[in-house]
Amino acid sequence: MNLLLYGAPGSGKGTQANMPRSHFGIPHIATGDMLRAEIAAQTDLGRQAQPILAAGKYVSDDIMIGIVRNRVIQPDCVPGFIMDGFPRTVPQAAALDDLMAALGKRFDRVIYLKVPVDDLLHRLSGRLVCPTCQRTYPPGTARCEADGSALIQREDDRAQAVRPRIEIYLEKTVPILDHYRGGGLVSEIDGRGTIEEISRHVLAAVNGRMSKTQKTA
Ligand code: AP5
Ligand code: MG
Repeated sequence: MNLLLYGAPGSGKGTQANMPRSHFGIPHIATGDMLRAEIAAQTDLGRQAQPILAAGKYVSDDIMIGIVRNRVIQPDCVPGFIMDGFPRTVPQAAALDDLMAALGKRFDRVIYLKVPVDDLLHRLSGRLVCPTCQRTYPPGTARCEADGSALIQREDDRAQAVRPRIEIYLEKTVPILDHYRGGGLVSEIDGRGTIEEISRHVLAAVNGRMSKTQKTA
């Protein structure tokens, strides 16, 4: 099972990855989480990436493609994976096609979590994350339910980075939807509603049973 979670910043990709991760027992490959781990470990890549993330811009395609290429060949990816945050540009989408073909894999479904911009702004400004396991939580949560860590705000959820993230998404990432729509792979899911409701729609889409309110392109 290979799934691609697609959606704007704050659309719920990380939140919704939890269900297929436990349901199918496959890893969640989130390029933003990987970059934040590099930043926390103060590696060369982390030092390079930190100001880019803080400004809400994109890390270069070459770097991102290299990161994903190294990740998907790991043994835990053999049964499949959930890709979140990659591809984000047309060149990344082309590179991922090549990579999947080389591995003899294909995506079973692209889940597009559709959320209006006003809701995105509201969610991002209140979001809290676990610095240990990267799980995300809504405002008001104190500790991570998985490991008890005190939750923090992400640097790029501060006001000055949120709008640039949405703008670059609209400019560079929206065009890749057409890339996947052509293959009939996209299930467009309303990303508003409770997390559990949306997870049910995601599972239905993955199992090929779209509900009446959702659509497949
Ligand atoms: P990344 O970490 O991928 O950030 P993003 O795409 O901006 O997405 P988010 O993680 O902010 O949102 P999400 O969709 O996961 O939503 P979440 O579940 O947390 O990337 C960060 C940065 O890394 C990029 O800006 C870029 O600089 C760099 N980068 C990464 N990949 C790259 C690439 N391929 N190329 C170049 N650069 C790259 O939910 C958000 C909030 O909403 C949470 O508080 C959550 O609790 C809440 N919420 C979730 N669902 C619901 C619901 N149904 N109702 C109400 N609230 C909800
Ligand atoms: Mg995320």
